[in-house]
Amino acid sequence: MAGKILNVGILGQGRSGYGIHSQWLRQAKRQYKIVAIADEQPERLEQAKQEFGAKVYQDYHKLLREEKLDLVVNALPTPAHPKGTIEALNLGHNVVCEKPMAIKVADFDKMVATAKKNRKLFAPFQNSRFRPYFIKAQQIIASGVIGKVLFARINYSGFARRWDWQTLQKNWGGNLNNTGPHPLDQAVMLFGNGVKQPKVFSKMISGPGTFGDADDLDVVILHGDGCPTVEVMVSSYQAYPSGDTIQISGEYGGITAGDAEVKWKYYNPRKAAKQSLNKSWAINRQYPSEKIDWIEKTWKAPETKIGGFNYMSKMFYSNVYDVLNGKGNLVVTPEQVRTQIYVIEQCHRQNRLPKSK
Ligand SMILES: NC(=O)c1ccc[n+]([C@@H]2O[C@H](COP(=O)([O-])OP(=O)(O)OC[C@H]3O[C@@H](n4cnc5c(N)ncnc54)[C@H](O)[C@@H]3O)[C@@H](O)[C@H]2O)c1
Repeated sequence: MAGKILNVGILGQGRSGYGIHSQWLRQAKRQYKIVAIADEQPERLEQAKQEFGAKVYQDYHKLLREEKLDLVVNALPTPAHPKGTIEALNLGHNVVCEKPMAIKVADFDKMVATAKKNRKLFAPFQNSRFRPYFIKAQQIIASGVIGKVLFARINYSGFARRWDWQTLQKNWGGNLNNTGPHPLDQAVMLFGNGVKQPKVFSKMISGPGTFGDADDLDVVILHGDGCPTVEVMVSSYQAYPSGDTIQISGEYGGITAGDAEVKWKYYNPRKAAKQSLNKSWAINRQYPSEKIDWIEKTWKAPETKIGGFNYMSKMFYSNVYDVLNGKGNLVVTPEQVRTQIYVIEQCHRQNRLPKSK
């Protein structure tokens, strides 16, 4: 299918299916064409007919059975991610699936095995992997200037009450499942791409700001021998929000990264003053002190890379287009995402919240 325009069917036309996937795919005219849409709500189907000229289905199973597509996007509510994706793969479709793919590793493994059995692509939509500041932070780490990463803190928090379907456990709602897959995906990458089962400490709370029974304040810590400790916070109770940010501590310096800018500073250990361990009591009752010769840099994302979802969708879908045309491999691999699902499952095991209030 080299270079051809890929026919896409999208399941779900909500905040994600319409607001993220349709909005990018309708622009990427040289790569994709939205030809089929499924949604329960007739007025959304009418809109899809008008805006995309797509064939529409109220029943997504029918769309999957009847349409011959190059790609299906599963943007259905979360509990339909494993079953909708498996059904689509078994009917011979390549699938992009929204996050979280699943909340149990066993379900995720079935998705991967079904893709393998049918020789189809299963591409997890982890769009925050492409946030410009995260890409930049990874480049700085790879350059080696801050040395080995010892600790990272990823904060995706604000102050908000919620009363929609994503606040209910029965819908696989809650901050961990809703927002968590974004910072957890980044956390897994910082922790060590390739580590399959990090040790997990987590505390999840369902506070008064949620009208459902699911969590709205989560702290997750990934740790393990020889790995950085990575802390993720997804709180709906941060009254002084800093935006989505990452702080990274390395052996020789650190990085602070967010949409506004990335700053990093480090010293050159080879050029630092030579010190030696002093085993006696404090000399002159003073703490040891020295002036560190910092090298400090700042980076701001170019205007073209800011703009939230569209840039990340562009990066993601360009990669998927290449892979479907036999060029290159997925940037976001199922293996990496499996670790994130493992962490999500561990968090739920550690925090059994009461069902419904
Ligand atoms: N990657 C991201 O940045 C991002 C952002 C938002 C949502 N999401 C994910 O997308 C998924 C959907 O969330 P949302 O916010 O779009 O929800 P939503 O409530 O805005 O939309 C859900 C849509 O699905 C339709 N629908 C529900 N059941 C259906 C069925 N059986 N058949 C056909 N249509 C059906 C509804 O009519 C509605 O249009 C969630 O899993 C969420 O985690 C991801």
